[in-house]
Amino acid sequence: MRLKGKRALITGAARGIGQAFAETYIAEGAQVVIGDIDIDRAQDTAAAIGATALRLDVTDPVSIEGAMAALRASGGIDILINNAAIFTAAPLVEITRQDYERVFKINVEGTLFMMQAAAREMIAQARGGKIINMASQAGRRGEALVAVYCASKAAVISLTQSAGLNLIAHGINVNAIAPGVVDGEHWDGVDAFFAKYEGKAPGQKKKEVGEAVPFGRMGTAADLTGMAVFLASDEADYIVAQTYNVDGGNWMS
Ligand SMILES: NC(=O)c1ccc[n+]([C@@H]2O[C@H](COP(=O)([O-])OP(=O)(O)OC[C@H]3O[C@@H](n4cnc5c(N)ncnc54)[C@H](O)[C@@H]3O)[C@@H](O)[C@H]2O)c1
Repeated sequence: MRLKGKRALITGAARGIGQAFAETYIAEGAQVVIGDIDIDRAQDTAAAIGATALRLDVTDPVSIEGAMAALRASGGIDILINNAAIFTAAPLVEITRQDYERVFKINVEGTLFMMQAAAREMIAQARGGKIINMASQAGRRGEALVAVYCASKAAVISLTQSAGLNLIAHGINVNAIAPGVVDGEHWDGVDAFFAKYEGKAPGQKKKEVGEAVPFGRMGTAADLTGMAVFLASDEADYIVAQTYNVDGGNWMS
């Protein structure tokens, strides 16, 4: 067990990649809190896998402080995974300010201020910590229809670098994972955007991106859990401010 006795908060873990992280962390001996805006789903998931659920909106300072207070009262926080995020796509001339603000609020502001809140707890606890941010291959370069989401994930990579350099003085490692294309409900939504803007049949974009991965298929949430455990473990103590591609060979950076 590589995370025995560690206490982890994973945002957006009611489903998808975050849920897989939660299950794996529990198997590695961690106590896991799922913080998700979808509290019904979070509670169902938590009950199924042996985690605790709390309603958390990563864009709301009161909600963030409530989560930190709950963690403080039950033994603190050793690991934060900033996993909650939303996707959007549109041709540049159709991007709305509302959509831009919604995506940046969750993906960028949420990541920054969750890091800040967790870092304050970790510094006060004086036992170090690990913060893992979920970036994306979308943060490595722009895509014609995905300006806003790509920019938000590039910001996550940049925030990881600055926070990592700042917080290592407190024994807090900040690193990120950049997945490629991971099958699940998130990508069902992505597929629907491409069906709309590229006139593709439902499922067609998924098939194309899967075939284009050098590994030969789309990723699964399970493909990412090894990196998530490693970065949260003592084995990663000397790793600072990095973003790791876990994408079947899609990008080299
Ligand atoms: N699936 C992919 O192909 C892929 C690729 C690259 C990066 N990623 C990133 O990995 C992470 C997880 O992706 P996923 O596919 O599991 O996504 P998902 O859409 O399945 O899950 C996202 C979760 O975040 C929650 N959430 C949304 N807004 C929230 C808020 N304001 N506060 C708290 N929770 C909120 C949702 O309720 C949901 O449970 C995201 O950061 C995503 O951008 C995913």
